[in-house]
Amino acid sequence: MNFKIPIFDVKNLSFALRENTILSNISLEIFHGEYIAIIGPNGGGKTTLIRMLLGLEKPTSGELKLFGKRISKFKEWHKIGFVPQRASLVDENFPATVQDIVKMGRIAKYGIFAGFSKKDTQVVEDAMRKMDILHLKGKMVGTLSGGQRQRTMIARALASSPEVLILDEPNTGVDMISQRRFYKLLSKLNKEEKITIIFITHDIGVIADDITRLFTINQKATICNNPKETLSCEDMSILYGIDAHLISNHKHNCSGENGC
Ligand SMILES: Nc1ncnc2c1ncn2[C@@H]1O[C@H](COP(=O)(O)OP(=O)(O)OP(=O)(O)O)[C@@H](O)[C@H]1O
Ligand SMILES: [Mg+2]
Repeated sequence: MNFKIPIFDVKNLSFALRENTILSNISLEIFHGEYIAIIGPNGGGKTTLIRMLLGLEKPTSGELKLFGKRISKFKEWHKIGFVPQRASLVDENFPATVQDIVKMGRIAKYGIFAGFSKKDTQVVEDAMRKMDILHLKGKMVGTLSGGQRQRTMIARALASSPEVLILDEPNTGVDMISQRRFYKLLSKLNKEEKITIIFITHDIGVIADDITRLFTINQKATICNNPKETLSCEDMSILYGIDAHLISNHKHNCSGENGC
């Protein structure tokens, strides 16, 4: 593998819907092994950017390469695991076990007619073990807690053995202790399994020690190569808006005059 080719190479990317500019002239590169956090206000365009990286939305202008290939030529989608926003809010009567859900991630890699080999079973079990849900494999997914569902959705994404994992605010309805445990699991995937992580979150203070870079998306992109520095009250409030005080309070317990 050539480590110098970015996994995502985005140049001058813009996206407009009718008259509305949603994203304007975004340029960024994401490399193998990084742990990127993406923050920004509601409606700032974070999910839209991710949808473009995944080929689900076409940019109005600009260039996008995945693993060194133009997106129109890129076929190895199994290299990218994706957990969408609100993925863990499953219908309570959804008729599938935890294991069924995680297996679906494997089927996505090889297709439904490929058959399930011993290796596939092993990979599915590994994904459940890594997300600490192996003991829940026979449980109906509708009966799980928010944190357990969250980990099931990530295990499903891991079952395709991805090189990069993209998570769009996966914490909806999850309590603080489960969240912290979840952040530890993500950090482990990044450090030990060398999986590149792109994590959209509003909870940046908690993961500031783990991430390598921080992107703020608010129509434009602001890239910070030293996330800990950006977490000062002043910077965060400029970049992110008033919510930044709550977030930076998490870590710094700051006592500035501007509401911190
Ligand atoms: N398919 C669509 N049709 C109309 N408007 C859209 C569509 N997709 C996105 N938008 C608009 O684009 C803007 C950015 O939305 P997006 O979901 O990317 O924001 P976000 O940063 O992910 O917000 P949040 O933090 O609330 O998840 C919003 O104003 C949204 O209303
Ligand atoms: Mg969003």
